[in-house]
Amino acid sequence: MAKFIIGTSKGLKGNVCAGGCKNAILPIIAATLLTEEECIIHSVPPLSDVIALCSMLCDMGVSIQFDEKKESIQIKAQNITKLKTDYEKAGKMRASFLIMGALLARCGEAIIPLPGGCPIGSRPVDLHLKGFSALGAKSQQSHGFIHITSKKLQGDKIYLDFPSVGATENIMIAATLAKGVTTIVNAAAEPEIIDLAEFLKKMGANITGEGTNTITITGVKKLFGAEHTVMPDRIEAGTFMIAAAITKGDVVVEHVREKDLKPILAKLSEANVKTQKLDENVLRVYTTTKLQPISLKTMPFPGFPTDMQAPFMSLLSVIKGTSMITETVFENRFLHAGELQRMGAKINIESRSAIIEGVDKLTGTQVKATDLRGGAGLILSALAAEGKTEISDIYHIERGYYEIEKKLTKLGADIQKVE
Ligand code: UD1
Repeated sequence: MAKFIIGTSKGLKGNVCAGGCKNAILPIIAATLLTEEECIIHSVPPLSDVIALCSMLCDMGVSIQFDEKKESIQIKAQNITKLKTDYEKAGKMRASFLIMGALLARCGEAIIPLPGGCPIGSRPVDLHLKGFSALGAKSQQSHGFIHITSKKLQGDKIYLDFPSVGATENIMIAATLAKGVTTIVNAAAEPEIIDLAEFLKKMGANITGEGTNTITITGVKKLFGAEHTVMPDRIEAGTFMIAAAITKGDVVVEHVREKDLKPILAKLSEANVKTQKLDENVLRVYTTTKLQPISLKTMPFPGFPTDMQAPFMSLLSVIKGTSMITETVFENRFLHAGELQRMGAKINIESRSAIIEGVDKLTGTQVKATDLRGGAGLILSALAAEGKTEISDIYHIERGYYEIEKKLTKLGADIQKVE
């Protein structure tokens, strides 16, 4: 099993480029099932989650050509030959559930395994199913699979109890081919929703309100092939920003959109981390003075993103003073804290809050990536720690960061991937 071996890496310096956004790519790939025509998607790094989703589509008879060097993917779902996804593949990745909306809209039927529990929480899919039911679909659960069927979907008003990103995407995808108007109230407003809506509109969908809490979709008869370049990954960019701050470096992060990063930039600024806009899509991140402890609370966009919670915990664990993180989006997203404690961090978890007493230094040891973003946080802590850190279970990290070791090495980090 591959591991990262990381040594103390002070003052990272240079330029690094964020890749295409994983959380936009996955729903966009699912949405290509809505048309029999070819879709071309650019800025798609060969992340393991992307490969896994493509493999599921291939099993369904979809033709996919992935030019990994050019990070460009051609997908043609001319014939869909299978409406059931395999548990082995789909059960591992929650985003596989996004196939449901597209299959339902195009074929009137889908059989998808329940994504089940995952380390960061129970992650139910009730909001997805409630939305589909409002559109006229009938679902039943049997042997761990959801079998959903529908005649022509019929638009309706759907109120989400929580602005779930996945449920908003799944319902939006399904509603594009429904009869009449669908309104999603209390919809998620994440930038990835806007990117998906832009792609769907290129396919011929009629959508308004994306990026706000009310999205309106007027169903169309047919959707067509489209070409799209995926938005930059705001979480990968944020991770490099923390890498600059935690190593007291001076890093230029390219391929970023400032508007997507506002909640992250606000918290960096509160902590005294300096950022400077060098160009439209280029931000410099550096430190000049002592960093300050802060409090933050994860929330749906435009609140602070839960996916940046673990990287921030790593930074706050080495800032003198008391910081506090409150996680409101997922019920169990502090698994990485235990690993950080093994590196010498002083973190006290009380229910959904983590109280962090900044220490002078962390020390390298053997740790385990507990989940994708928690694993990224461990890399950041390892850069700042004294001595060598060995991170195992890095397959979690590779779900969402493509060749992170190469990108960090270019900035001067001491990081190696060993098999
Ligand atoms: C997406 C992102 C993930 C991010 C999360 C929150 C992808 C592939 N993943 O995940 O990186 O951390 O948004 O920004 O885009 N919930 C329900 N019922 C449902 C659906 C969700 O109770 O039917 C709850 C979840 O358990 C969780 C909260 O809603 O507590 C947020 O989940 P959701 O926004 O749906 O996250 P994902 O779409 O799974």
